[in-house]
Amino acid sequence: MISAEVVLPTVFQARRAGLVGGVSVASRRAQTVLDLRKVFPVEEFTGWPADKNPQAAHPDCYKDAIKKLKQPGCVIVATPDHLHTPVILDALAAGFDVIVQKPLCLRVAEAHRIATVAAKANRYVYTDYHKRHDKAVRAAKYKYSTGELGEALCGHAWIEERREMPLKVFGRWADQSSSFEYIGCHYVDAFHFITGLKPRRVAAFRQHKLLKQLGHAAWDAVQAVVEWNNDAVLYVQTSWVLPDSNPNLTNQGLQLTCTQGEYRADHADRNSNFVTQTGGVQRFNPHFLKPYNDWDDPAKTEWVGYGGDSILQPLHDIHRLCGVSAAERRKLIAQFEKTRPLPQQALIATAVNEAVRLSIAHGSRFVVFDGKMNVKLEG
Ligand SMILES: NC(=O)c1ccc[n+]([C@@H]2O[C@H](COP(=O)([O-])OP(=O)(O)OC[C@H]3O[C@@H](n4cnc5c(N)ncnc54)[C@H](O)[C@@H]3O)[C@@H](O)[C@H]2O)c1
Repeated sequence: MISAEVVLPTVFQARRAGLVGGVSVASRRAQTVLDLRKVFPVEEFTGWPADKNPQAAHPDCYKDAIKKLKQPGCVIVATPDHLHTPVILDALAAGFDVIVQKPLCLRVAEAHRIATVAAKANRYVYTDYHKRHDKAVRAAKYKYSTGELGEALCGHAWIEERREMPLKVFGRWADQSSSFEYIGCHYVDAFHFITGLKPRRVAAFRQHKLLKQLGHAAWDAVQAVVEWNNDAVLYVQTSWVLPDSNPNLTNQGLQLTCTQGEYRADHADRNSNFVTQTGGVQRFNPHFLKPYNDWDDPAKTEWVGYGGDSILQPLHDIHRLCGVSAAERRKLIAQFEKTRPLPQQALIATAVNEAVRLSIAHGSRFVVFDGKMNVKLEG
């Protein structure tokens, strides 16, 4: 889904702009590559696997694609949440910089491993937390950084998707993740991005009703209460069983109460909606990644928005890292690390994801973090 809707439109556009050269796409089944060729009929790319049986599984064919990849190059990982780590580590071992879909991974130990391997290999690993590029979130960060909002006290975030997500879009792996790990992590990262705070304690809850009735092991909804290291509390509500008729795929937003002000934003309803005979009611978010007429050639399509900006930023970073000395590369990565979701920042949402699992497994008990963000039950 994300490859067809965001990653590849952005990469192909970056190729037209001269930033990117050849593109290879590796999936588990040849069918996915065939489907992508229909979505992008005029774009050239090498597809893996090339099996004549489109349904045969080739979980390791990405390794062949990495072997064929030439420097300068990078690997963009968009596999299911629980399958990011092996691809990232293989890409790093082959000497490539990496862009990975959020969450970086699902376990703190894996995040540390990735950070250590990347540091040793002097490589860059960027997690695509695209909300950081949404101007509605950047504005909150800006006003927080100037002190206009004061200090964070409490807040709530909601991010909930239509039931088609666990039932159709990724029915194959929904039970290996959850609505919290899949989308809730965006708001944990956004809160960390805005405030710079780190989590201290987490208690989490889950419900399993509708999807259970439909024979699915995946949970309907997951919520977490996150206490931060200045005593602030964020409640994050997630689910993926909204009715099929919900006008947007994802309801989402954030409210923050701070000592000197409040931030309140609906990140789904941007007041630009369409109703058409063919498309029905569409709650349109013009800020995400949407096609527009190219200014110079209106017959062409230009993709614009924060979903793409969040892929372009690391592509530009990696471009800057290509061809510089090892010392300069290390210096640049250290500089990027301060402001980008490189492993030390992406670790925060991974740690909360792991804490949520642990809390749920123990009757919603509080989970605490040590200095390295390792999780354990409180008490
Ligand atoms: N940045 C965002 O906001 C955003 C939005 C949606 C999804 N995501 C993330 O993107 C990732 C993919 O999500 P999706 O919704 O596109 O899921 P998806 O199920 O539509 O796509 C995952 C793809 O990975 C492929 N795959 C599985 N195992 C593989 C292997 N061993 N080698 C190569 N390919 C393999 C599957 O065949 C499938 O095509 C997830 O981590 C998800 O959390 C990010």
